[in-house]
Amino acid sequence: MVEEEEMVVTPWKVTGKIDYDKLIKQFGTQPIDEPLLKRIEKHTGTLHTQLRRKLFFSHRDLDWILDKYEEGEKFILYTGRGPSGPVHIGHLVPWIFTKHLQDKFDTKLYFQMTDDEKFLVHDLTLQDTAGFTQENALDLIACGFEPDRTVIMRDVPDIARLYKLALEIAKHVNYSTVKAIFGLEDSSNIGIIFFPSIQAVPCFIASEEAGHNVPCLIPAAIDQDPYWRMTRDIAAKLGYYKPAQMHSKFLPGLGKGGKMSASMPETCIFTTDTPEAVRQKVWGAFTGGRPTAKEQRELGGDPSICTIYAYFYDLFEEDDKKVLELENQCRLGAGICGECKARLTELINVFLKEHQRKREAARDIIDKFYMK
Ligand code: TYM
Repeated sequence: MVEEEEMVVTPWKVTGKIDYDKLIKQFGTQPIDEPLLKRIEKHTGTLHTQLRRKLFFSHRDLDWILDKYEEGEKFILYTGRGPSGPVHIGHLVPWIFTKHLQDKFDTKLYFQMTDDEKFLVHDLTLQDTAGFTQENALDLIACGFEPDRTVIMRDVPDIARLYKLALEIAKHVNYSTVKAIFGLEDSSNIGIIFFPSIQAVPCFIASEEAGHNVPCLIPAAIDQDPYWRMTRDIAAKLGYYKPAQMHSKFLPGLGKGGKMSASMPETCIFTTDTPEAVRQKVWGAFTGGRPTAKEQRELGGDPSICTIYAYFYDLFEEDDKKVLELENQCRLGAGICGECKARLTELINVFLKEHQRKREAARDIIDKFYMK
């Protein structure tokens, strides 16, 4: 059972029951606390749902990024995708938030497609990862990003633009550091030993282009943090600012425990799923309900372990009052799981219908986003 395994969070593996407070200690990051939320709110007007609900819960140097911003130094945003298959709604969590930051702070986004990383760590050809890159970019564009403020870099086609910085980074990172940070083994291929220097490049690319330091903020789930630890260690040696981060929790899969992951497709909602596929997956989800409707009415359910409730909370019910109502109704046994599942299915399908429409429209403009 996923929940009973030891907690492991790396860019290539997330297992066990995730204790986010423990991760903050383990990774040496900072919680996004109330004073920081107030500071963000000053600039954004209202707090984004993902901040109010503490989905984005941890950071490095976010206070410094805000200092710089308040002094008139604009930052760039950097995030990315490893194109190893179709995009699921978990991947959309940091992208929706990144779009919000782009709008509120009027910033440029660098988005990296690590077609090389996924070729190296999965049983995929370079042709496969190039195909997923193209398809996944449609999902990113469907989130509303605009071509004049967004650059999508694809590691393999764009390597000439990235390689010089990657070499400069790589020269300052020794093998034992990469081995320890990423848990590499003697059997790991040598491509993946070098790869972290490629993922570090976009942290500095705006500074390189501008000829002076430009702050960089990375919104992503916390599994990507090992890359930033390595990058932050060497930034000063190259004369660059350390990149700052905002870390999100994981959207869970529809099974018991574990993050949403394409490797378990039956517990994963892909952005290209049909309404019927969504209905079937949601119907089979693990909930906090009792075995029978009678027991549910008498004893109430447990929303804290329910995947259906998590989806309302994390993505599909933005109204704080309504989400609290859902929680209370569940605890009091006033509702049964079938009702919540039917409502969630409908909300996901409404969302996906619109996302899929925008995704198709993106085919006509995709080339405008790729790095020139
Ligand atoms: P990848 O493709 O594994 O994930 C893409 C983004 O989605 C986040 N993520 C999730 N967020 C919430 N819930 C989930 N269940 C979930 N699963 C994945 C990831 O944290 C990531 O933000 N090596 C990277 C590609 C990359 C990148 C970056 C990512 C290159 N540069 C800069 C973030 C920031 C990767 O394979 O991501």
